Order: sequence, then C-alpha cells, then structure tokens
Amino acid sequence: MLKLTRVLLCAAAVSIVSLAQAADPILIKFSHVVAENTPKGQGALMFKKLVDERLGGRVKVEVYPNSSLFGDGKEMEALLLGDVQMLAPSLSKFDKYTRKLQIFDLPFLFDNIQAVGRFEQSPEGRALLTSMKGSGIVGLGYWHNGMKQLSSNKPLYEPSDARGLKFRVQASEVLDEQFKQLRAVPRKLSFAEVYQSLQTGVVNGQENPWSNIYSQKMHEVQTYITETDHGVIDYMVITNAEFWDGLPNDVRTQLQSIMDEVTVEVNNQAEQLNQRDKQNIIKAKTTEIITLTPKQRSEWREAMKPVWKKFEGAIGADLIEAAQKANIAQ
Ligand code: LMR
Repeated sequence: MLKLTRVLLCAAAVSIVSLAQAADPILIKFSHVVAENTPKGQGALMFKKLVDERLGGRVKVEVYPNSSLFGDGKEMEALLLGDVQMLAPSLSKFDKYTRKLQIFDLPFLFDNIQAVGRFEQSPEGRALLTSMKGSGIVGLGYWHNGMKQLSSNKPLYEPSDARGLKFRVQASEVLDEQFKQLRAVPRKLSFAEVYQSLQTGVVNGQENPWSNIYSQKMHEVQTYITETDHGVIDYMVITNAEFWDGLPNDVRTQLQSIMDEVTVEVNNQAEQLNQRDKQNIIKAKTTEIITLTPKQRSEWREAMKPVWKKFEGAIGADLIEAAQKANIAQ
C-alpha cells in the first residue's frame, strides 16, 4: 500500500513538472547594437510591449541593446546557434549570406528615405526577405534608420578633402570600395568600437544617420559633419528559420502581425528621431554642420558612382533598376 502511494505521488509530481514545463513561455532574445532612443532601439521595445500585452504568458521577449549581449562580430552566429532569436542588423552586414542586399550600400542610389521605403515594399524588395532561408535566416520586415551623413575631424566639402583620411566602415565590401574610390582608407570596425576609435584617432571619420551619431556621442569626438545623405542605414529584422518554422502556427501568425504593426510605427517615427538628434547635435555646439551646394553634392556622387559598376554583377542589374524606379513616387 505504502509502495503504491509512493508511486502515485511520484507520478503526480512528474505530471506537475511537465505541466509547468508545458506552460513555460517561448523565449525570444532580441539583441541589437544601438542605443534605446534610436529607431531600432524603440522598435525592439515596442515589439516587446505588444508581445507582452497580446501573447503574455505564451511568449516572453527580452531586449538586449547596445551590444550588451552580442556585438556585430558575433550576433549573426549567435542567431544561427539559437543563442538569440531576433536581431535587426543593418542591411550592410549580410555580405556573408547574400550579395543581393549589397544593393542598399550603393552610394547615391536612393534620393531619400521614402524611396528606400518604396523599394523595400516592392515585390523585388520583399523577395529579399526570404533570400537567406538557405542559410537559416528569415527576414520579418525592414525598419528604417535614415540617410547617412559623413563625419570627420576635418571639414569635407569636396571628395578630394577625404583623400588619405581613415574612415570606419561596417563589414561591407561596397562601403569599403566607396571609400577607396575617394582614395581614403576604410577600416572595418564593429559599431561598439566606433566612439573609441574616433577618440583615439584609429580612424578620422565615419558615416551614420544623426540618431546613431548623437546617441553614441560621436559628435563629441568629431568636429565636422557634412550633410551628404549619400547612402542609407536601414535594418532587416531577422529570425532563425528553424525557430520560426517550429513555432505553433497561431503564435507565429500573431508575432508576424505584431511585427508588421511595429514596422509601420518605426518607419513613421524614424525621420523624426533623426531630425531631433540633428537638432541635439546643433545645440551641443561641438560640431560644425556643413551643407553642400548642389554642385558639391554632385561631385561626391560622381566620385563614388564607379562603385556601382564593380558590384553590378553580384547584385544584378535588374535589381538596381528596380531600386532606381523607387526614386519616382507613384
Ligand atoms: C553601424 O554599424 O554603423 C550601424 O549600422 C549600427 C546600427 O545598427 O545602426
């Protein structure tokens, strides 16, 4: 009798444990490299908030900003290993997985952030979200940051002003070539290293939207920013394909619909956040902002344009044409 009671008690304990396990929420670790008060930082927090509200108990989101969990060098590997479930790397950081996304780095391809958005939402742009499935990566949406500006410790009016200067670049062959065209010296460094590299003179300049420049305090170690709008920093929110496909159908559908909602919000707010931070930099009085004349801007365009031809084969002439069409508002 005593034996039977013991067996029954054990069985009850086991089923309580398995019930508790069944009720364990699905954990999504969302890691990124920027500050929280930037478009991507805000997007990740918004995603967490809506998941808490609508899927609370079933899915839990933890956000790790500022390279606090993984930095540029390791985050993609961590996603593929299942150590994190979501990332939003800049579109310049996918060279290892696809050459197609290099399109976003072609200098002076897009006239403005609205054109970037139109291309992202075009059939060609949307097809890129699934272009890395073979490598185990699925894109859930595109988030804007904004157009890039060139900062330096030397005033940059004409392309020849950049000659011989060292510029930090993201891990992108296109961006590397862009600075080589200026006869400048590109250095690939992770985002977390940028401030210190500028401060100590490892590099003399870099390119980023206002929100990244201000939130990383780069303006404190850069005396000039030339407003070039010569390229874009946008993001692909990505997840691990195996993780995503393994989610219960209803959870996956809800997460995608939350992501779509957040994407609209991030993309509506991004330009405003960048303009706010441009004003913040002006107020800080650390940095002179240089506005180019139309003639000077076209000189920069001409100097950087040879990059297109070098990458046309890898990216595809058709894709470049589709992106150029996005410059014309329908
Ligand atoms: C950079 O590495 O310069 C940025 O793209 C970082 C980011 O995610 O915005």
